[in-house]
Amino acid sequence: MVYIENLQDFVGQTVTLKGWQANMRTGKGLLFILLRDGSGFCQCVVNEEEVGEELFSALKASTLEASMEVTGLVKADERQIGGYELQVTGGTVVNESVDYPISNKEHGVEFLMDKRHLWLRSRKQWALMRVRNAVSFEIHRFFQENGFVQMDAPILTPNAAEGTTDLFDIDFFGRPAYLSQSGQLYGEAMAMAMGRIYTFGPTFRAEKSKTRRHLSEFWMIEPEMAFYDNEKNMELIEDFIRTVVLRVIDKCKFELTEILERNLDMLRMVEKPFPRIPYTEAVKILQGKQEVNGKTSISILEEELKATQTHISENQAEITDKESLIAAGGIKKGKLNWMKNRVAQLKAENKDLSEQAENIPQWIESARNFKDGADFGGSDETVLTKLFASPIMVYNWPTKIKAFYMKEVEGNADFVKGVDLLAPEGYGEIVGGSERETDINVLLKKIEDHGLPQEVFEWYLDLRRYGSVPHAGFGLGLERLITWISGTRHIRETIPFPRMYGRAEP
Ligand code: 4AD
Repeated sequence: MVYIENLQDFVGQTVTLKGWQANMRTGKGLLFILLRDGSGFCQCVVNEEEVGEELFSALKASTLEASMEVTGLVKADERQIGGYELQVTGGTVVNESVDYPISNKEHGVEFLMDKRHLWLRSRKQWALMRVRNAVSFEIHRFFQENGFVQMDAPILTPNAAEGTTDLFDIDFFGRPAYLSQSGQLYGEAMAMAMGRIYTFGPTFRAEKSKTRRHLSEFWMIEPEMAFYDNEKNMELIEDFIRTVVLRVIDKCKFELTEILERNLDMLRMVEKPFPRIPYTEAVKILQGKQEVNGKTSISILEEELKATQTHISENQAEITDKESLIAAGGIKKGKLNWMKNRVAQLKAENKDLSEQAENIPQWIESARNFKDGADFGGSDETVLTKLFASPIMVYNWPTKIKAFYMKEVEGNADFVKGVDLLAPEGYGEIVGGSERETDINVLLKKIEDHGLPQEVFEWYLDLRRYGSVPHAGFGLGLERLITWISGTRHIRETIPFPRMYGRAEP
């Protein structure tokens, strides 16, 4: 048995592929079966004269997602998906797939989410999961090559790391406990033992927000480094993100360009330095009071609104045109199906664009009226990042809106040494990190100010009592990174089985 991704080593040889029917076209005495085997896609050409009537009829009767084995000669053919073709000489249908619920026509996203266990087989989902795999691998590789030790933080925890509002609580043998919001506090203990560590594990947030950036269960990667200040932390974030993104582009060229239609030039902007902007300056940029390369946040949004409206009108003109051609009749079946699909696609696109056109004036309003000292919301991040082609790092945040463990800026207790990395093209925050407070008295006061119970943090305070050192770290949301790299609109497609507000199935 040979896997499709290895076909380059078998050109001119006869091999057997095992997989599922992803599509089929028929011609006179010919079948063109698109076979997928999990490693890739391959067009298999079945000629009735070659395989005989019995096998030909069996394959012809097979339907979408029927499982099969096919044997044939491997030919290089650049025009085909994956670059190879199989000229079938034999095979069998393993099992039928009657009335497979997902067809090649447009389905509503809720329907697809209900069928997630099957939707994972679709081409786009396959590509996203391949990208996810490459991102995970490259994250481990980066840290392993740079002297970090991977350690696992507990998932059941007695304390809140990131505030008490979005905790999932559970009954731990009669005692209250929570699902981990972050492994960071344990990461700090581990860094004091091992120097530089990283965690890579599931994280839970009970936020009741239905945005395209929020999951209730997501995977977070949290490095923690002894003897690091926030400057070194930012250097590491930049090097890490750049390395991972460039390596994933290299590894997943086919998935990203052929299937996800990602613009790689935009992603390659990570090669440029990431601007580092203090929070107070970021606020001025957001409010439109400070220019970036001759543009303000407001002028860029106004341009975008115009472009969106033009796009909607162009799509509408094409819809009207195609609909009148369809109504006039006399079009061949193949062409008619193509036209109907195109109209459906344009309508879906216009729905998204109209939503965007409605949002922009609201964004302009909220950017103009943004209150200095507040946290950035999703749309504020979107607006801010529109002015930059590469990711940006916003640092030195107001103390009031950040977690208790962040270190105060020397001589200015109103600000802490936190840093957020915002991805470009509207993707927003993908990394949050900081230098950690080392002064035990400041920490005690903050724990009290945040209304947190001191007893459960005693072990954490020990880290300041015994050989405390400056240290820093950050957390990367795996699915946020994948969403940006793959250019996907919604985070829900970047994890095999998403858990989010309103959905815990299948
Ligand atoms: O900024 P956050 O809350 O930071 C922490 O949890 C720190 N303890 C990290 C640290 O310093 N070790 O979360 C970090 C990242 C965010 O930037 C985002 O990428 C992701 O976790 N994230 C989410 N991803 C998906 N869905 C959610 N609901 C998320 N909340 C945070």
